[in-house]
Amino acid sequence: MADVVVGQDLAASVRLPGGERLPILRDVCIRIPEGTSAAILGRSGSGKSTLLAMLGLMNRPDQGELTIAGHAATGLSEHDAARLRNSLIGFVFQGYSLIEHLTVQENVELPFSFGANARHRDVRRAAHRALDSVGMARFSSRRPAQLSGGEQQRAAIARALVRSPRLILADEPTGALDVDTGEHVMGVLRDATVGSGSGLVIVTHDPVIAGSAHSQWHLVHGSLRPADPVVQEGAAR
Ligand SMILES: Nc1ncnc2c1ncn2[C@@H]1O[C@H](COP(=O)(O)OP(=O)(O)O)[C@@H](O)[C@H]1O
Ligand SMILES: [Mg+2]
Repeated sequence: MADVVVGQDLAASVRLPGGERLPILRDVCIRIPEGTSAAILGRSGSGKSTLLAMLGLMNRPDQGELTIAGHAATGLSEHDAARLRNSLIGFVFQGYSLIEHLTVQENVELPFSFGANARHRDVRRAAHRALDSVGMARFSSRRPAQLSGGEQQRAAIARALVRSPRLILADEPTGALDVDTGEHVMGVLRDATVGSGSGLVIVTHDPVIAGSAHSQWHLVHGSLRPADPVVQEGAAR
């Protein structure tokens, strides 16, 4: 089985307002086979969002090797990193990330406004298909404020899926949802990725959600280690 993510000895930092760099991640090694999901656990401030930004080619590693779906992702120019990101990666951001004045359909079409031009008819069709896959087709003309939290999150997932990414990165996508809705949203994410041979990396504080992923990883002070499965119940399928 091929790997969607291979990371070796990665280190990453963030830029402080003064310009100096604050080291956050070190010696990160991770491997995510196609069609599997990985849960990242860790305390607030341990570097989880920094890790997703690095895997999503938003923040370039200071050292190490990163391969996404067979493409070398280290040492790229800003332009090439953006192109790879647009074609391979979908993000479900932490918190509410839909644009309030756009309809659900328009929100889901947004990823097509970056990179190569696609025909409008194809864009509409892809958005409809993505919304349909998360059970949201009938809400396409609503605005985010007219949706429940779970529906907003499903719309955000549709937006992440619309360009058929090989890798989905989700930052606490169920954090603001009640338990049942959270598990439903996780099921939608899992079906959309694992079912199509893509990879899913999900940051979560919820041990049940984490336990339903194929692998679990703990981030402690910027260092990533494989964790024992948190719960057996509802374990990886
Ligand atoms: N732009 C930034 N400027 C300064 N410190 C930052 C910045 N971004 C993140 N940090 C710090 O880096 C550490 C890791 O942050 P983050 O990856 O957001 O953690 P998590 O998502 O696990 O809560 C934290 O200590 C945070 O305060
Ligand atoms: Mg975070």
